[in-house]
Amino acid sequence: DLDVVILAAGKGTRMHSDTPKVLHALAGRPLLAHVIATARELNPARIVVVYGHGGEQVRERCAAPDVDFVLQAPQLGTGHAVQQALPGLESENTLILYGDVPLVSATTLRRLCRAKARLRLLTTALGDPTGYGRIVRARNGEVQRIVEEKDATAREKAIREINTGMLCARAADLKRWLHAMHNRNAQREYYLTDIVGMAAGEKIAIDTAAPDADWEVLGVNSKDQLARVERIYQWERAQALMRQGVSLADPARIDVRGELVCGRDVAIDVNCVFEGRVVLGDRVRIGANCVIRDSEIGAGSEILPFSHLDQSATGADCRVGPYSRLRPGTQLSARVHAGNFVEIKASSVADGSKINHLSYVGDASVGRNVNIGAGTIICNYDGANKHRTVIEDDVFIGSDSQLVAPVTIGRGTTIGAGSTITRDTPPGELTFSRAKQVTVSGWKRPTKKQK
Ligand code: UD1
Ligand code: CA
Repeated sequence: DLDVVILAAGKGTRMHSDTPKVLHALAGRPLLAHVIATARELNPARIVVVYGHGGEQVRERCAAPDVDFVLQAPQLGTGHAVQQALPGLESENTLILYGDVPLVSATTLRRLCRAKARLRLLTTALGDPTGYGRIVRARNGEVQRIVEEKDATAREKAIREINTGMLCARAADLKRWLHAMHNRNAQREYYLTDIVGMAAGEKIAIDTAAPDADWEVLGVNSKDQLARVERIYQWERAQALMRQGVSLADPARIDVRGELVCGRDVAIDVNCVFEGRVVLGDRVRIGANCVIRDSEIGAGSEILPFSHLDQSATGADCRVGPYSRLRPGTQLSARVHAGNFVEIKASSVADGSKINHLSYVGDASVGRNVNIGAGTIICNYDGANKHRTVIEDDVFIGSDSQLVAPVTIGRGTTIGAGSTITRDTPPGELTFSRAKQVTVSGWKRPTKKQK
């Protein structure tokens, strides 16, 4: 019986950005979206996001049917922020999370929530605790209170156990404590952390739990911290892929910004970026420096370096690249080759066809065993509308041809090199359009005039 409150009203001054801090991207998604996703894993009754001034964008970007937003304006501190969310909470327990602490795991949070005491704090010991609130314990080890860095004595500053900010409490207790809150401190803020002293004063049991890894509690306040959190996130994704059997040339040089599903014996070379949902079949190999978004690649296919695939599907045993661009709506069947500087858009290419060099194929259906010669361009756009081109099975298109859509190249047609094809071609015949070759005998190149 749990509600989750996510504090996300902070200004994020140190990001030096017009974008609200919690909307900065981690692995292609807003920081806050990561926290909301983790909160969801706990199956809470409610998820409430406390957002701040100018944060309408926060509402818009992170809207979901199971997320409620509460405005905190002005922002008078973390205690004040939680207070804004309390009236809507009905579950027995409240878990407080932070929109700028995106890496915390559901496992850690479950452990925190399962702790027996009425107030449960997520704490950890840091080599350098500077900047954090410190956990002050009595001789017997019981937690007494939290002191903020700015209010701490030299002795308290030496404490290495820090407050991560995340905690789980009874909603009824929170309501009582926050009602009694004041802001007599160095920052003139209503500190959420003051509830710990109040709980201790009421002799309410306080437990602490530690995160599985210290990086789970890292907050993002600046661009360098954002980059650090990104690297940790990506490293963890890479480790998970390798545990499943994926070969990574370098786990420090892969970026997964979404979902990457891999079959057996997949190998990924360095500097590849995967966005959205990408599915790689068994034995797929991805060369260096590829960017692949929302695409599926069939078993045994190889994507050679520097290729860009977006919303496209590749069948089994294809070879794409190097330097290929497969744009949305590209569907390659089995054993298709698309080579260097080949761009394909909204087109299907059937089994065994080859488009190996410097071509544009747009809005086309290409049959089986077709060979499209170097430099072939499908002229799909007349300046106002797009038209379709059909290339039937077993067609051979000579290099440097233009197919002006709409046009159908009949089965088994051979198109002579350098042709501009504007009308449908009959099957099985040779068709070409070409100016006659002329030789002028005895012609001499001009020479420079003598001065
Ligand atoms: C807070 C804790 C500190 C802890 C640290 C962990 C308090 C008083 N102190 O300090 O013990 O070690 O986090 O990082 O809680 N926020 C709001 N509304 C506000 C103020 C803050 O939503 O009015 C949000 C911020 O967006 C941020 C979070 O609360 O996500 C923490 O606020 P911040 O001002 O960074 O607190 P710290 O001083 O770092
Ligand atoms: Ca902070």
